[in-house]
Amino acid sequence: MKKLSFLLLACSFFTLSAQKIQSPSKDIQVEFSLSTEGEPIYKVNYKGKEVIKASKLGVSLKEDTSLTSGFSLVNKEETNIDETWDPVLGEQSTIRNRYNQVRFHLLQKETNKKFDIVFKVYDEGVAFRYEFPEEDTVRYFIVSEENTEFNLTGDHKTFWIPGDYDSQEYVYSETKLSEIDNSKLDSNNGIALKSIESNYRVQSPLMMKSNDGLYLNIFEAAVVNYPVMHLNVDIENFQLTSQLVPNALGDKAYLRTPSVSPWRTIMVSDDARDIVSSKMILNLNEPNKIDDTSWIKPMKYIGIWWEMHVGKSTWDFAGSQNAQNAASKELIPSGKHGATTENTKRYIDFAAKHGFDGVLVEGWNVGWEDWFGNWKEDVFDFTTPYPDFNIKEISEYAKSKGVKMIMHHETSGSVANYERHLDRAFDLMKKYDYPAVKSGYVGKIIPRGEYHDGQTMVNHFNFVAERAADYKIMVNSHESVRPTGYSRTYPNYIAAEAARGNEFNAWSSGNDPKHETILPFTRLLGGAMDYTPGIFEIKMNIYDPSKTEQVHTTLAKQLALYVTMYSPLQMAADLPENYERYLDAFQFIKDVPADWQESIYLEAEPGDYLTVVRKDKNSEAWFLGAITDENSRKTEIKLDFLSPDKKYKAIIYQDGKDADWKANPKSYSIKEQTVTSKSKLKLSLAAGGGTAISIVPIN
Ligand code: NOJ
Ligand code: CA
Repeated sequence: MKKLSFLLLACSFFTLSAQKIQSPSKDIQVEFSLSTEGEPIYKVNYKGKEVIKASKLGVSLKEDTSLTSGFSLVNKEETNIDETWDPVLGEQSTIRNRYNQVRFHLLQKETNKKFDIVFKVYDEGVAFRYEFPEEDTVRYFIVSEENTEFNLTGDHKTFWIPGDYDSQEYVYSETKLSEIDNSKLDSNNGIALKSIESNYRVQSPLMMKSNDGLYLNIFEAAVVNYPVMHLNVDIENFQLTSQLVPNALGDKAYLRTPSVSPWRTIMVSDDARDIVSSKMILNLNEPNKIDDTSWIKPMKYIGIWWEMHVGKSTWDFAGSQNAQNAASKELIPSGKHGATTENTKRYIDFAAKHGFDGVLVEGWNVGWEDWFGNWKEDVFDFTTPYPDFNIKEISEYAKSKGVKMIMHHETSGSVANYERHLDRAFDLMKKYDYPAVKSGYVGKIIPRGEYHDGQTMVNHFNFVAERAADYKIMVNSHESVRPTGYSRTYPNYIAAEAARGNEFNAWSSGNDPKHETILPFTRLLGGAMDYTPGIFEIKMNIYDPSKTEQVHTTLAKQLALYVTMYSPLQMAADLPENYERYLDAFQFIKDVPADWQESIYLEAEPGDYLTVVRKDKNSEAWFLGAITDENSRKTEIKLDFLSPDKKYKAIIYQDGKDADWKANPKSYSIKEQTVTSKSKLKLSLAAGGGTAISIVPIN
């Protein structure tokens, strides 16, 4: 269903009077105007309240007059869109894309340059972008800065991570805007590479809550051929300004006409569920470019992975990750190598027995003795297995068991090297029938001087997804740019880590109990996250009594994360032998799907709690996940989303009465009951806890 109305107002030049754009619901109103100096300015109101005060727009150019002032409005075009599209994989089988759009055609009289600013106003927020239209001659230009302002109305509560050009792997700070200060962060946080240049700079998505209960989120969509936008914070005046991530020369973006910037987004609502359920970021991306998508499938997987993170085995064959060993011609096996043929077969057997689609194996290829920390260019070749990893035998074995192998490409940040080997690496995957790759970008980037979040790297991540599509390969990138909805355009880009994942709980101060209640309001807005939940052995002292690290949740919350952390690629991250000890709880991980026809966010408060229920894409079964932060929580859930003419069996996986993420995280109980659409369920979540429920029809 597509409704389109079109209106073109072509006048000689508009006056400076404010131009108004409303959301379809009329709750959001944007005003666009030009100052007396011809500077583009916008404001946003929500339900009659100002949420963004008059804020300037524009782009500074390096070798040219900047696109910040001296504009006249030539004309404007209005379009109203109401359409639907079906994602290949997703939280729902159909997505509605409804907005009112106005395109302002501006002209900088002095230079005769055209500049368009396009607004799309959705019910849950505002998006705008800059467009550099086609001119008589093609013009190349360098963006030296973007001058987008978001002038806020107060000292909002803010969930933030520092504006680090190389990493998003931080826990969120929850403070007032005026208290943002990167110098106060604990630097002993397990992050290997940090590039923070200012104490008053944060990353987006930036989630905020005003004193009068409005939820605000500032982010971006469709970051393509452009750097990531971070935000500079004026902590006295509550003003945010765009900070584009520079390249090695300090420039921001190299563009030519015609081209566009990413969308800048401001979501606003008095109900936090509107933000967490919004599909605005996906909607703002270009439609799917892959004709045949039959090979893009959800995957639940296990892997030779956590055992390295907990120190039980190693990625490298020689065991020491010592460059001296790598230099010697013959590697001496340490006996601790994880990625052996035998161990891989053990994982394949476990996957086959319990119905998992895939097995990831890290440390299968030569190079891990000297992979990190030396800014070395030729690290891995992505094609040469270690002598104890028989790739042919393994792929044949996996095939015989109906299990798919997931390839691992750790680039160590040497992107130049990866691109050189990419086609051969993908050829090897095709030869041995690997349908998906997990890539990794730990460490300083090569080309040297580039940051993870700059334009060059944005182009790299998008290029790999596009090239992988040619090979019918799905991509899951770690330490990449955080997604901004590009999985709509390339749905084979099924997941990314690009935030602080569960792995940090294995070997660092970890992720505090509120972490997973914030990610859905921030990182997950741009696309699925490979968070790697499902750790049952919560405390790492099981591997070594001297270890104090632990997962900062209960076991039941680890189950709930399969529902609250949307991803079509979900890992059961713990070791097979650990799952064997808790097979009753493991049943939930076996049952939960990774692709959905419908998702309903029942309760949401960033930093506090989240309850979501989702309907399996291919059946009438529902799965509920409820999580809380460090505070215990009681709630009651109405099951009125169930079909009224059906009876269901609910299996409730909950925290034990004495459960607590720190004192007693493994205490859980499982109960079954018959439910209907009239039932209500009382949930009791421990501190740092959660509840997971499967609800399957019985008639
Ligand atoms: C960091 C990734 O997030 C992790 O999953 C991986 O095991 C290591 N890098 C090694 O590639
Ligand atoms: Ca990581």
